[in-house]
Amino acid sequence: MSSIESVLKETRVFAPHDAFKQAATVSGIESYNALCQAAEQDYNGFWAQLAQSEINWHTPFSQTLDESQAPFYRWFADGTLNASYNCIDRHLATRGNKIALIFEADDGIVTNLTYKALHQRVCRFANALKKQGVGLGDRVIIYLPMSIEAIVAMQACARIGAIHSVVFGGFSAKSLHERIVDVGAKLVITADEGVRGGKSVSLKSAVDEALQMAECEAVEQVIVYQRTGGKIAWNANKDHWWHELEAAESDYCEPTWVNAEHPLFILYTSGSTGTPKGVQHSTGGYLLGAIMSMKWVFDHKATDIFWCTADVGWITGHSYVAYGPLALGGTQVVFEGVPTWPDAGRFWQMIERHKVSIFYTAPTAIRSLIKLGGDLPKQYDLSSLRLLGTVGEPINPEAWMWYHKVVGKERCPIADTWWQTETGSHMIAPLPGAIAAKPGSCTRPLPGIMVDIVHEDGSPVTDTGGGLLVVKKPWPSMIRNIWNNPERFKKAYFPEELNGYYLAGDSAHRDDDGYFWIMGRIDDVLNVSGHRLGTMEIESALVANPLVAEAAIVGKPHDIKGESIVAYVVLKGQRLEGEEAKLVAAQLRDWVGKEIGPIAKPDEIRFGENLPKTRSGKIMRRLLRSLAKGEEITSDISTLDNPAILEQLKQPAA
Ligand code: PRX
Repeated sequence: MSSIESVLKETRVFAPHDAFKQAATVSGIESYNALCQAAEQDYNGFWAQLAQSEINWHTPFSQTLDESQAPFYRWFADGTLNASYNCIDRHLATRGNKIALIFEADDGIVTNLTYKALHQRVCRFANALKKQGVGLGDRVIIYLPMSIEAIVAMQACARIGAIHSVVFGGFSAKSLHERIVDVGAKLVITADEGVRGGKSVSLKSAVDEALQMAECEAVEQVIVYQRTGGKIAWNANKDHWWHELEAAESDYCEPTWVNAEHPLFILYTSGSTGTPKGVQHSTGGYLLGAIMSMKWVFDHKATDIFWCTADVGWITGHSYVAYGPLALGGTQVVFEGVPTWPDAGRFWQMIERHKVSIFYTAPTAIRSLIKLGGDLPKQYDLSSLRLLGTVGEPINPEAWMWYHKVVGKERCPIADTWWQTETGSHMIAPLPGAIAAKPGSCTRPLPGIMVDIVHEDGSPVTDTGGGLLVVKKPWPSMIRNIWNNPERFKKAYFPEELNGYYLAGDSAHRDDDGYFWIMGRIDDVLNVSGHRLGTMEIESALVANPLVAEAAIVGKPHDIKGESIVAYVVLKGQRLEGEEAKLVAAQLRDWVGKEIGPIAKPDEIRFGENLPKTRSGKIMRRLLRSLAKGEEITSDISTLDNPAILEQLKQPAA
C-alpha cells in the first residue's frame, strides 16, 4: 500500500463551544463513547432498540439482522411499515400545522407547505398513481426539477409501495433512457421545464426523446408537472397533466404497508466499470439511517430550520431532503435555483430570510462562493445558524476555515460527513456536541458503524498509514443489491480477499486520535463538483462518436470542482491541430453532454496519434495523470511502446 500516502498535515482542532455542547442531543465525548460501546457490546440489540423507538411499525419485527444470505443482509425483515406514514402521518396529530417545506423558487417566490397540506398532496398524487395502474413494486422514474412536486412524487411512490428511481435533471435523454430500461419503469414523472438561474431548462423533451428509443415499451404513462407553461410536444395516449390528475383525487390514501426490506428506491451511480449501477435501498433500515444521522450528526431539534442544498437527483437529496427531515417532523428549506444567481450572495440571503439554523452543502459550492464573493456573507444576518455541514468530497482546510469564520462566525460546529450513495446515510462524521473537528477530516464513525482501514489483503492497517476504507459489519441503511445484478453487487462491494468487509472504494488514513482522513477514490471514479463519474462511462461515450478511435479519461485537481475531466483522444483520421482541433474538441464536448449530461463534459481535450501504452497494450493512466497536471515525466518510460507520443499529449487542443 506504499502508493497510498497522505500529504495533508493539519493540526488545528476545534472543540464545540460549551453552549452548543450542553444543548446537544449527544453531549460530550463520554456520551459518544457510551453509544459506541453499547453498539459494540450488543450490536443487534443496539440497532433493534433504535428501530423500535424511532420508527412507527405497522407490525413489529422479530429478527433484527438476518445474515444467512450474506452479503445480502436483511434488517428488521418481518416488520412492516410505510415510509410516507413515518414522514408525514405520524406528525399530523401533534404538528399538522407545522411548516414542513419552505420552497423558494428561482425567482424568489416562497411557498410554504404544512404537514397537513403535504399529506393531502401526497395522498392525492398517490391515488393518481394508483389510477394510472402503478402498484406495489412497480418502478417509477422521477425526472423533475427541485420542487415541492419532486418530494410529493417520491413520498407518493413510497406511500403505495412503488419503487422510485430519481434521475437528476442534468442527465441527458440517453442517460435517462438507460435508466428507464435498466429499472424497467412503468411510468415517468417529469415537468415541462425547470428553471435555474433565470433560464428555463427543458425536461419533457428529453423524456419524449428517451421514450422514442428502443426498449421503452413498458412505460405506459407520463405525468407532467406544469412548471413554466413552456411549449412541449404532447402525446394524448401517454401524457397526463399532473394538476388535472391531482384535482380529480380524494384527500386520503391508505398507506400500503410493506416489508422492511421492500425496496424504497433505486438510485443510479457511477462505478469504475460498465454502466451506472442501480443502488437498491430498503425501507426500514434506510429510514433508520436517515433518522439517526439527522439526530446524531445534525443534532436536529423540533425548532430547527434545516436546509440541505442537494438536488433530489442525488443520494443527499434523498436522505436529507425527501426523507430524513420529514421523518423527524422538521421544517426545511427547499431551493429551486443555483447558489450564484442573481449573485453569489443567494445562499446567505436565503439563510437570513428563512432563519436557517442548520445548513448543509458541498465543498465545491463553498469554493465557488469564496471565489465569486468571499465577502458577501458579511452583508447578511447569519445569526440564526448554529450548525454547518459539508458532503461529497474532502474539504480543503482553507475552504473549511472560511466556512468556519465567515459563515459560521467561529460559533457553529462543522460536520464534514463522509458517506456514499451505497451507505444510505452518514457513516463517518462528528457528532457536533461531542467530537472536536479538525479541518479536512470527517473525524470518527457514527455509533454502530464499524469502519476500519485495511491493506489489500484485508489485514488491518495498525499505524497511521493509508489503506482501503472498509465497513466491517452490515449496517441498517446499507445498499441491498445492485438492481438486476447481484453478481456485480458481490464483486464490487464484497470482494473475496476482504473477509466479508464492505469495500467503500475510497482510500483513507487514521491519525493518532483515531480520526479518519479520506484521501480519494481507489478506482477509476472521478469526483467532479461532488458528483461521481466513471472514467469508463465517459470513454465509452467518446468512443461512440464516429470520429473517435480511442479515448482515455483522467481527473486533474481543480480549484473549485475538486477534480476536472481531461480527455485524451485518438481520432480515426489524422491527428488534428490548431483551429480544426478546437472545432472538433467542441463537437466532442457537446457529444458527451448529449450522451451523458453536461456534468460529464471534458474540461480539456488533448489529441494524439496514439495513447501511451505498455508493450502489452495497457494504457498508462499514471502518465496521463501526470501530463494532465503539467508535471515533467521523470519516471522510467522505457517500457512504453511509444514514448514519443507523450510530447503530443502535453497540450490541450481546447
Ligand atoms: O469518495 C467519497 C466522496 O464521494 C464518494 C461518494 O459519492 P456519492 O455516492 O455520489 O455520494 C456523495 C454524497 C454522499 C465517496 O466514496 N465523499 C463523499 N463525502 C465525502 C467524500 N470524500 C471526502 N469527504 C467527505 N465528506
